[in-house]
Amino acid sequence: MTILDTSTEFDGQVALVTGGGSGIGRAIAVRWAAAGGTVAVMGRRSEPLQETVRLAEEVGGAAEAIQCDVRDADAVDAAIDGLAERHGRLDALVNNAAGNFVTPSENLSPNGWKAVVDIVLNGSFYCTRAASRHMLPAGRGSVLNVIATYAWHGHPGTVHSAAAKGGVVAMARTLASEWGARGVRVNCIAPGPTETEGAGQALWPNDEARARVLSSVPADRFTTPDEVAESAAFLLGDRAAYITGEVLVADGGQWLGKAVYTNP
Ligand code: HXC
Repeated sequence: MTILDTSTEFDGQVALVTGGGSGIGRAIAVRWAAAGGTVAVMGRRSEPLQETVRLAEEVGGAAEAIQCDVRDADAVDAAIDGLAERHGRLDALVNNAAGNFVTPSENLSPNGWKAVVDIVLNGSFYCTRAASRHMLPAGRGSVLNVIATYAWHGHPGTVHSAAAKGGVVAMARTLASEWGARGVRVNCIAPGPTETEGAGQALWPNDEARARVLSSVPADRFTTPDEVAESAAFLLGDRAAYITGEVLVADGGQWLGKAVYTNP
């Protein structure tokens, strides 16, 4: 039996993390770098990306920032081609970039719908398509999409995000079956409520909302970006070599729902 050394698991490998300037994306990028990998972080604003680069270098990895909006398919192609050509390989892609706000669906403007679907669904496809053109010829690659459990159970006020993330799950399963025999795995991770600025502002903007969210989690706590990154690292690497087309739910049991009866 061979036991994989996770401290050097991504040695010599190259990953791209979209939305890598903050929250879960930043934590996954740093986790990849900590295991010896080279990581590129993609996002719209340079400053937060540079901070992730600094943190990734601090743990001993190599890192670079790529300023690019995932909604721009041509820019995505150029950025990913450049990355793969500079390093001679692309081993992993994490589609983490997201946009979200809570709003009654009947008030959501077509442009608001489009903004979120463009980032989450279209952006994930543009990046995956561009990455696949380097992974498939190499016969090796791992794609991980960060989604949310409301992709299947739905949630009031999140119709754009839920529809887009549901689309991402269907995309992942389709590509997993299409590319499985060619060495490219495609999975999803569905974190529960995570202590990040982006999610907090969008989904629990005040103390009362935060308490309500917490009361829905059997584990009785929020998760952290580092904890999500640990699960992501598992799915990205060879420990998960036989897992594809799967969604790993890491939500402290939240989507199971809490019984509303008297608790024991
Ligand atoms: C209603 C809104 C709105 C709001 C924007 N819009 N915010 N409508 N309520 N709070 C509308 C605008 O009025 C506009 O429509 C349209 O959306 C586009 O807005 P822009 O600001 O021009 O777009 P843009 O600058 O591209 O910003 C995209 C964005 C923004 C999605 C709206 O929020 C964003 O970039 N967010 C990225 C960071 C983020 O949200 N991270 C959270 C991810 S957390 P009109 O018709 O007026 O032109 C997450 C966790 C989920 O996803 C899982 C939990 C378990």
